[in-house]
Amino acid sequence: MSSVLEKDKQHVWHPFTQMKTAGEPLDIVKAKGSYLYDREGKSYLDCNSSWWVNVHGHCHAHMTKKITEQIKQIDHIIFAGATHEQAVKLADRVVKLLPDHFQKVFFSDNGSTAVEVAIKMVFQYWYNLNQPKKRILALEGAYHGDTFGAMSVGQRDYFNKPFEPFFFDVDYLDFPSKEKEESTLLRAEELFKTNEFAAVIVEPLVQGSAGMYMYSASWLNELVKIARKYNVKVIFDEVMTAWGRTGTYFAMDHCDEKPDIVCLSKGLTGGVIPLGLTVATDEIYNAFLSDEKAKALLHGHSFTGNAIACAAANASLDLFEIGYTWKRVARIGKKHLTFQKEIANHKAIKDVRVLGTIIAIELYTEEGSSYFASIRDKAYNFFLEKGLLIRPLGNIIFLNPPYSFKDEELDVVYGTILEFIESLKA
Ligand SMILES: Cc1ncc(COP(=O)(O)O)c(C=O)c1O
Repeated sequence: MSSVLEKDKQHVWHPFTQMKTAGEPLDIVKAKGSYLYDREGKSYLDCNSSWWVNVHGHCHAHMTKKITEQIKQIDHIIFAGATHEQAVKLADRVVKLLPDHFQKVFFSDNGSTAVEVAIKMVFQYWYNLNQPKKRILALEGAYHGDTFGAMSVGQRDYFNKPFEPFFFDVDYLDFPSKEKEESTLLRAEELFKTNEFAAVIVEPLVQGSAGMYMYSASWLNELVKIARKYNVKVIFDEVMTAWGRTGTYFAMDHCDEKPDIVCLSKGLTGGVIPLGLTVATDEIYNAFLSDEKAKALLHGHSFTGNAIACAAANASLDLFEIGYTWKRVARIGKKHLTFQKEIANHKAIKDVRVLGTIIAIELYTEEGSSYFASIRDKAYNFFLEKGLLIRPLGNIIFLNPPYSFKDEELDVVYGTILEFIESLKA
């Protein structure tokens, strides 16, 4: 065991990990392009983009250059009563990429805080207007992060059971699968009619942590229209779906109806440095303008607007603007669709879902679909052995690779997934 692993065992408490039973972590010494390298020199294809964040490949030369330049200029400065060029440039670029009504950008640290800020924004928006509304609508199966507000609007289950007594009340719609599209919309209307709803929050088009479950843009359009009719604010949590993941900058680009607030993080900085953004309309922002200081959004973090993170985000946007990134996104999406056709009728496969650069392969298991399906660890270890870092969501094997992935690498990954499925027969 290397000294790093020894010290890790002594002192490090890893996220989402049962430390009693988990095996040794990978001891990674280098990350380059689509690969991670361990101390023994073994390489691993980073098939889930290191928790869905990395978009351009690791240690990309342009990202590294811009981050290095920035750290020599401004590292981090307070963001209340001060500003800096990188944050302003980023805000300007992000609002130009979003539909016109998005005008104001609030900075925070990660996906959970971007969601937390969105929730606080909508509650305080109604409070400031002297029409306090306490209810929020979310979707069954939702995951919006691990802070209390974000957990409150997420699926209530084994992930957050100990905290449930502390959550605020949230109403849930069933997941809008084809057969439930109509009934869920009727239910939403029934609830919104009460005039008690501050907002509805969704992961647009793809529920990530639930198992990359996908639903239609037409359903989402209808939900937003109903929310508008009853003056309910709409939050799209695009923490996972933005930055090319669904084939476009944002999942909302697939929709005609747009939200009032959007949460961004993960691939925002190319997946290199933590940063969260909550982007709102002027209409929401204006409700916080007052001669009373207490009507301001009294929220912030020490590292809000970090200049190095903003420089990384600007560097990532450069890479989207030069065009080759979009060719890669389209190429990966096309390969996924071809593979989907090839395996759609496989006996061991319950469903194959594709949107943009995401492909999810749901396997039949005796236990049914579950995050704790025993097949998960088997699959994870099988793939690691073969040099692929894939973290299945229970019995759902999915890929959302960095866009640096080459066709040959995708072929290797697809082949290894089929090999794993074949190995189950033995
Ligand atoms: C849709 C969505 N929202 C929020 C989050 C939380 O983001 P973070 O892990 O950066 O706090 C995640 C993380 O996976 C996510 O998928």
